[in-house]
Amino acid sequence: MENQKKVEELQKKLEEAQQGGGKQAIAKQKSMGKLTARERILLLVDEGSFHEYDLFVEHDVRDFGMQDKKLAGDGVIIGTGTLYGSPIAIYAQDFTVAGGSLGSMHARKITKIMDYALRMRMPIIGINDSGGARIQEGVNSLAGYGEIFFRNTLNSGVIPQISVILGPCAGGAVYSPALTDFVFVVENISKMFITGPEVIRTVLGEEISMEELGGARVHSEITGNAHFFARSESECFEQIKKLITFIPWHNQRKALAFEPREPKAEYVVDKIVPDDPTQPYDVRNVIRAVVDGSDFFEIQELWAANIVIGFGRLNGDTVGFVANQPVVMAGVLDCDSADKAARFIRYCDAFNIPLVTFEDLPGYLPGVDQEHAGVIRHGAKMLYAYSEATVPKITVILRKAYGGGYIAMNSRHLRADFVFAWPNAEIAVMGPEGAANIIFKKEITEAENPDEMRKQKVAEYREKFANPYVAASKGYIDSVIAPKDTRKFLLHAIQVSVNKNAQMPSRKHGIPPF
Ligand code: HXC
Repeated sequence: MENQKKVEELQKKLEEAQQGGGKQAIAKQKSMGKLTARERILLLVDEGSFHEYDLFVEHDVRDFGMQDKKLAGDGVIIGTGTLYGSPIAIYAQDFTVAGGSLGSMHARKITKIMDYALRMRMPIIGINDSGGARIQEGVNSLAGYGEIFFRNTLNSGVIPQISVILGPCAGGAVYSPALTDFVFVVENISKMFITGPEVIRTVLGEEISMEELGGARVHSEITGNAHFFARSESECFEQIKKLITFIPWHNQRKALAFEPREPKAEYVVDKIVPDDPTQPYDVRNVIRAVVDGSDFFEIQELWAANIVIGFGRLNGDTVGFVANQPVVMAGVLDCDSADKAARFIRYCDAFNIPLVTFEDLPGYLPGVDQEHAGVIRHGAKMLYAYSEATVPKITVILRKAYGGGYIAMNSRHLRADFVFAWPNAEIAVMGPEGAANIIFKKEITEAENPDEMRKQKVAEYREKFANPYVAASKGYIDSVIAPKDTRKFLLHAIQVSVNKNAQMPSRKHGIPPF
């Protein structure tokens, strides 16, 4: 009987603690179109699977009137659950409790669940909704962030780390998501910035709204800090669940295998790419034409769209795709697209996901802006990432492969395992127009009809070099293949690479051009 009373008492305590910041704060949260921290977790994990820890943790701050403030769970919920029956760790900051601000106990809860995630080798999902460092706790809050950043770095490449920004993520707090693998944002809800509008007004005298400064669109389209953009929290959770199906639970395991499926009949690979090398097309349709079920899951769709990255499956297993996008700036490489691709290549390599590269690009974007923005350093990241990656690496040259772009897009010289080219591929130091103008300059200017001579020389150059056979004659390309055979060649290349064992020289670590 005594025991029963204690259980009822516990029940009461639980219900009380689960109220977060109380009715009024919850109503305010809802009026902003936001779910509560608890609702978010329950929506995300398998039904009935969530188990919470540290609900009764209390802060021990005695200054600024804090001694009288009881903060439910110290403003953050931590726990474990399952997704598709597999374990995951999760934390969600509760904005209804002191604005989800991070004090030392709050931070200790987050670091505890991060440690569990690493020890148990399960993905960790962090839901951020917080006013940043709890001002009343001073340096203890800063210490808390430091402990989180350290663990983000330690976990990197061992377990997947996913950040969901569902409210403010202000001040140094944004560096935790920036250290994780994937950042999800929601329109009108997510706000990320280092120095907020208040600071900008004070220091610079400029007015800017939080939305304009660091809203979901800003980070999806301009900064590239976010990887997935959703219009509602529920759409965001669906995206997270889909991502989870493509990635391994940790770096020693493969992603879930699915039943192999043929691509949909509507994507006919040899009808997508126009013969005329100046005509654009959407390279995502080429990916859809080769992957299982034509199911391509794109990452960072709205940023640096001149390169496409994302996951698909071949024969039921996850593959990472990197593809030049001729529909956006002819698919050139520039600072942002090189950064985008390089990071994704490293992600796939860390989690043993084979890489397929589709190549069709005129080279690097020329111009003072790019040079001064550091295209040398940024472009080098991509070379580094491809060279360093030891997962199976397959390249298909769809059309143009010119200059540095040819090398950068996972060429044989960076140790591609297989390089295939379609028959209309053009592989050369530069495009025939530019090349003819330089090497036949004298003949063209001295000709009776320079235009006619230029045309003739361009045709001559194209005939001699702008085809796949020169590269094939040197063994730089393994096979020239008909477009319709692309999936067949990819499936086989993946199949025979399954036990690939390529080692990098022993070293502490390399020094990538960060
Ligand atoms: C303590 C905080 C807080 C904080 C919010 N609150 N932020 N308490 N520390 N950092 C509290 C508020 O006092 C309030 O408490 C409740 O949370 C809700 O906040 P409101 O301001 O009423 O909400 P809203 O109007 O929606 O505005 C949200 C906000 C704003 C934009 C996030 O609160 C804000 O600007 N906060 C400060 C953001 C910031 O500059 N953080 C950086 C801190 S420095 P009551 O009791 O009234 O409900 C930092 C450095 C870390 O983070 C460095 C790590 C390397």
